[in-house]
Amino acid sequence: MNQRTVVVLGGSGFVGRHVVARLASASHRVVIPTRSRERARHLILLPTVDVVEADIHDEATLSRLTRGADAAINLVGILHERNRGDFDRVHIELARKLADACRTSGVPRLLHMSALNADPDGPSLYLRSKGTAEALVAESGFEWTIFRPSVIFGREDSFLNMFAKLERLLPLVALACPDARFQPVYVGDVAHAFVRAIDDDRTHGQRYALCGPEVYRLRDLVAYVGKLTGHERPILPLGPGLSRLQARLLESLPGPLMSRDNLASMKKDSVCGCAFPDIFGIAPTSLEAIAPNYLSPAATRSRYDKLRTQTPPG
Ligand SMILES: NC(=O)c1ccc[n+]([C@@H]2O[C@H](COP(=O)([O-])OP(=O)(O)OC[C@H]3O[C@@H](n4cnc5c(N)ncnc54)[C@H](OP(=O)(O)O)[C@@H]3O)[C@@H](O)[C@H]2O)c1
Repeated sequence: MNQRTVVVLGGSGFVGRHVVARLASASHRVVIPTRSRERARHLILLPTVDVVEADIHDEATLSRLTRGADAAINLVGILHERNRGDFDRVHIELARKLADACRTSGVPRLLHMSALNADPDGPSLYLRSKGTAEALVAESGFEWTIFRPSVIFGREDSFLNMFAKLERLLPLVALACPDARFQPVYVGDVAHAFVRAIDDDRTHGQRYALCGPEVYRLRDLVAYVGKLTGHERPILPLGPGLSRLQARLLESLPGPLMSRDNLASMKKDSVCGCAFPDIFGIAPTSLEAIAPNYLSPAATRSRYDKLRTQTPPG
């Protein structure tokens, strides 16, 4: 594979850390702008990686960051708006600014992270903003590739880990949209697809749904997490009215677990009913092969033991 310079927006996040690690191990030079170097400290020691504190919403900064790059990857995304208009600003405006910056800097290759069911006419603000951003990338005239994953799992995920935490703390789980369906995909497989696509001309102008091998109902995923962690809790399935009320209450808390917009996204099952794209040359990893490695009590214990041995005596 040719060595490239790749700018990764959102490189400090859950998916980003896996994409960046693979880029670095393939000896690509990687530039990661972040709002906080502290948040990206896990990447600083990787060879060939530059972590830069920068405001990526500033067009001049974005042009400067992309100058001399061979490819740009946009992984920036949010699940909740802190202020009205955040979805548009973070998903749509930023995608537009990145395309403009790539045009100014002569960066030909653009890889864009979207989401399954993204659609300008979708049922939630999240999916509509992701869909509009996709359309913008597809009309940009670049050598673009768009990825549309279902929910992504892996050691640092916020989805399964959130249920693990809730089940540890609560005597039962009152679950909104218990029958919503997902086809969880492993973060390592998603990162593999991004890195393979960089140099593969056949992926230009293509959108890829990224899903794992199995479809699960939300209630089955929560039950599975409880079984793995040793905190099996009764699941109280909520109907549409109570789901909405719960989301309304939760969305007013800081760092909300759930919002009415998230509920609206779940109106459409996050499943693709298709195989992992052949072009990436892998069979998708099953949830059962990975989740026990970070959710089981033994895995949690060994992580704490490791941290303890790494902590200098105080
Ligand atoms: N995780 C999933 O299950 C899943 C499923 C489908 C699609 N996706 C999409 O995959 C992408 C990555 O998801 P993730 O789970 O890795 O997310 P994450 O861990 O929350 O990371 C998000 C990244 O976006 C950056 N970011 C967030 N808000 C920003 C803002 N207002 N301005 C600038 N940068 C901002 C953060 O950078 P700094 O904090 O360092 O500045 C961070 O690196 C997103 O586009 C998401 O929509 C994720």
